[in-house]
Amino acid sequence: MRLEEHLAGCESDLKELVLRIGEVSKTISKGFASRQSHSDTHNVYGEQQMALDKWADEVLIADLRDSGIVRHLASEEQPDIIEFENATGNLGVVLDPLDGSSLIGVNLAVGTIVGIYRGNVLAPGREMVSAMYVLYGPLTTLTYTVKKGVHEFVLDDDGQFVLQEENIRISDGKIYAPGALRKNYLEGHLKWIEALEAEGYKIRFSGSFVADVHQILHKGGVFTYPGFVGKEQGKLRLLFEANPMGFIVTEAGGATSNGKVDLLSIQPNAVSQRVPIYIGGKKEIEMIEKLNSEV
Ligand code: AHG
Ligand code: MN
Ligand code: MN
Repeated sequence: MRLEEHLAGCESDLKELVLRIGEVSKTISKGFASRQSHSDTHNVYGEQQMALDKWADEVLIADLRDSGIVRHLASEEQPDIIEFENATGNLGVVLDPLDGSSLIGVNLAVGTIVGIYRGNVLAPGREMVSAMYVLYGPLTTLTYTVKKGVHEFVLDDDGQFVLQEENIRISDGKIYAPGALRKNYLEGHLKWIEALEAEGYKIRFSGSFVADVHQILHKGGVFTYPGFVGKEQGKLRLLFEANPMGFIVTEAGGATSNGKVDLLSIQPNAVSQRVPIYIGGKKEIEMIEKLNSEV
């Protein structure tokens, strides 16, 4: 089944938006080889931008501007929320145009992460109406939800996204993807890591959030980029990374947390807000929240 058919029962503006982003992702997937370099600019987080970060951001913003159905857009590569004056629709989009871009040079999987709201994008993640990501790896896959399950499509030899797996449910699995440095772990986090290791969890961490969470979604376990000594809010961005992927994993029967509360319940106070993130099976998420409540 093709993506367009699978979206048949979906509200027309959401259907159009998911399909549009799918089409732009095909363009992005062909543009890697000639854009591997670092650019000479930095984003608002002080991170040096890759040429690909900026290009992916440009092509996505241009298409969403032309769509007329998106009014507000917040991108990891932009300092502020963009309002499209010409919009006739009221969708709000949050976007990490290219997650894991520092890994382009070593040919590891990277991706585009998208969250979709009806209206304000500076809202808790649970108010999203849809979320999706495209993973550029050995396969190019598109995973989406419109709150009717999580479904994965693969780009076939004819350049069509065709159904790979429907109604994905996160399974029990013993892998963990631990970001940050062990020497800087906070007390509750260290206790949690030690408990996972005592249960025989294996490390699987590539440095690409979207790829690491994709693996957790399919194999079970948990991803974390925690708060740590000196950066208690961690590294990953609430709007562009944590919320969309947390929304998808939650829709697939998992959970997400900042270590204390459901991450999707957090009211963002700024576009650039960082958040400690735990995302994966309910068991692992309940464990970190319990351990943090005891320290
Ligand atoms: P981005 O490429 O969008 O800036 O995201 C990179 C993030 C995330 O993908 C990954 O989990 C994290 O950076 C890795 O950080 P470290 O290099 O500190 O491990
Ligand atoms: Mn990212
Ligand atoms: Mn990025």
